[in-house]
Amino acid sequence: MQKLVILGTSGNSLEILEAVLDSHGADTSSRFSVEGFLDDDPNKWGQDILGYPVIGPLSQAHRIDDVKFINGIGSTNSFKRKPEIIAGLGIPDEKFATIIHPSATVSRFAKIGVGTIVLQNAVIGTRVQIGRHVQILPLSVVSHDSQVDDFATIAGGVSVSGYVHLGRACYIGSAAAIRNNVHIGSEALVGMGSVVLNDVAAQTVVAGVPAVERK
Ligand SMILES: CC(C)(COP(=O)(O)OP(=O)(O)OC[C@H]1O[C@@H](n2cnc3c(N)ncnc32)[C@H](O)[C@@H]1OP(=O)(O)O)[C@@H](O)C(=O)NCCC(=O)NCCS
Repeated sequence: MQKLVILGTSGNSLEILEAVLDSHGADTSSRFSVEGFLDDDPNKWGQDILGYPVIGPLSQAHRIDDVKFINGIGSTNSFKRKPEIIAGLGIPDEKFATIIHPSATVSRFAKIGVGTIVLQNAVIGTRVQIGRHVQILPLSVVSHDSQVDDFATIAGGVSVSGYVHLGRACYIGSAAAIRNNVHIGSEALVGMGSVVLNDVAAQTVVAGVPAVERK
C-alpha cells in the first residue's frame, strides 16, 4: 500500500483524509495509507489530528522517503501562494498523489493532473482538462470541454458551465456559477454565490450577481 502524507491541517486537508479513508474497499482504494500531516505551525507538531500525527514542518517533505504527498493548503488567504508552496517543498511532481473521492463522477474522457483532489460528489464532465495540484471541493460541477489550469481551487457547490477556462491559481468561491465560454484569469478570486457572466481579469476579485470587480 502506498504511504501518503497530507500537506496542511486545515479543513481541506481533513477532507482529503476523509476521501482517502472513504476509498477503502472501492476500486481506487486502499492504494493509500495515511502517515500523517505536515504543517508549518509549530504548535501542532507532535499532536494527533483525527488520530493522525502532525509530523513536522513542510520543509521536512523532501527528507521523507517512500511516501506520496497531497496538498490541502489553499484557503482564500493562501490560494495565490500554492505554486510557491509546492515548489518550495523541493519534491518532484511524481511524488504527488491524485485523490478522487469514490462518490465523485469523472468522465472517462476527462484528464486530471497529478496532485489534484476531487472531493465528494463532484462531477467532472466530458473532455474536461484539469491541471496539476487543483482542488475541487464537494458537490462542484465542471461541465464539458472546460479547462482548469494548475493550482486552481474550486470551492464547494460551484457550477462551471461548458467551455469555461479557469486560469492558474485562481479561486472560485462556494456556490459560484460561471457562464459558458467565460475565462477567469490567473490568481483571480470569484466570491461565494457569485454569478459570473463575463471574463475576469487576472489577479482581480469579483463578487455578486452579476459579478462585478471589488477593489
Ligand atoms: C469576495 C470576498 C473575498 C470578499 O471578502 P472581503 O474582502 O473580506 O470583503 P467584505 O466582507 O469586507 O465585503 C466587501 C463588500 O463586498 C460585499 N461582498 C463580499 N462578498 C460578497 C459576495 N460573495 N457576493 C456579493 N457581495 C459580496 C460585501 O457585502 C461588502 O459590500 P459593501 O462594501 O457594499 O458593504 C469574500 O466575501 C468571499 O466571497 N470569499 C470566498 C469564500 C468562500 O467561498 N469560501 C469557501 C471556503 S471552503
